[in-house]
Amino acid sequence: MAKMNAPAIRLQGLKKRYGTGEAAVDALKGVDMTVAPGEVIGLIGPSGSGKSTLLKCLGAVIEPSAGRMEISGQAIYDDRWKIADLRALRRDQIGFVFQAPYLIPFLDVTDNVALLPMLAGMSNGQARLRARELLEALDVGHRANAQISQLSGGEQQRVAIARALANHPPVILADEPTAPLDSERALTVVRILNEMAVQFRTAIIVVTHDEKIIPTFRRIYRIRDGKTVEEAGEGRQV
Ligand SMILES: Nc1ncnc2c1ncn2[C@@H]1O[C@H](COP(=O)(O)OP(=O)(O)O)[C@@H](O)[C@H]1O
Ligand SMILES: [Mg+2]
Repeated sequence: MAKMNAPAIRLQGLKKRYGTGEAAVDALKGVDMTVAPGEVIGLIGPSGSGKSTLLKCLGAVIEPSAGRMEISGQAIYDDRWKIADLRALRRDQIGFVFQAPYLIPFLDVTDNVALLPMLAGMSNGQARLRARELLEALDVGHRANAQISQLSGGEQQRVAIARALANHPPVILADEPTAPLDSERALTVVRILNEMAVQFRTAIIVVTHDEKIIPTFRRIYRIRDGKTVEEAGEGRQV
C-alpha cells in the first residue's frame, strides 16, 4: 500500500545490465535517487549515459538487474519484481509524457484524456468529467470537443499532459517533453508541469538536454556513465 509521507520515488543502488558475457552493457551502475511528492526534478546527461534506461526502469517497462525501487513507499523491485500486476502499476501509478504527444486521432480531446480512467474502472461520465476538469486546468477546456488534428502542437502537448495526470498518478515521467517547442512554449510546458506537481502532489522527472528549461529546476540529477550525481539547480521561476 502507498504510505503517507513516503517519497514518491526512492531508488537505492539500482543497476541495469543489458545482455550477458562479453556483450554485456552496464547501463546503470548503482543509481540512488529520492524524489518527494510534488517535486519536479531534471535528469540530465549526455547521449548513452543511461537516461532512457533509468526512465524505463522507473516506468516498469524493463526490469532492473539489481537494487531497490519504491514508489510511494511501496517496493516495486528489490532484486526482483515485487509486483505481480505491472499493467495496473503503469496505468495507476505512473504517467508518461513524451516528446511527441501520441494522442489517439480517432478519439476527441476529452476521450483521449478520459480513456485511462475508464480503463481503470471509472464510469464514462465520471471519467469525462475528470477529463474536462484537467483540460480546464491546462487552459485547453475550450478544445474539449475538438478532434486531435484540429489542435496546434502546443495544445496537443497540453492534452498529453492532461492524459498523463488523468489517473492522478504519484509519478510522471517526461522524456524530452519540450524538445520540439520554441522557448516560450517550452517554458509554458514547464510552468504547467510545476503547477500540476503542486496541485496533485505529483513527482515529475523531466529528462532533458533543453538549455531553455534546465535553469528552472530546483534539483537536478546528472547522469554520467550509469551513475547519478545530485546537484542544486537555479530554480528559476517561470
Ligand atoms: N536494449 C539494449 N540493449 C543493449 N544495450 C542497450 C540497450 N538500450 C540501451 N543500451 C545501452 O545502454 C547505455 C545507455 O543507453 P540509454 O539508456 O539509451 O542512454 P541515453 O538515454 O542517456 O542516451 C548505452 O551504452 C546504450 O548503448
Ligand atoms: Mg535516451
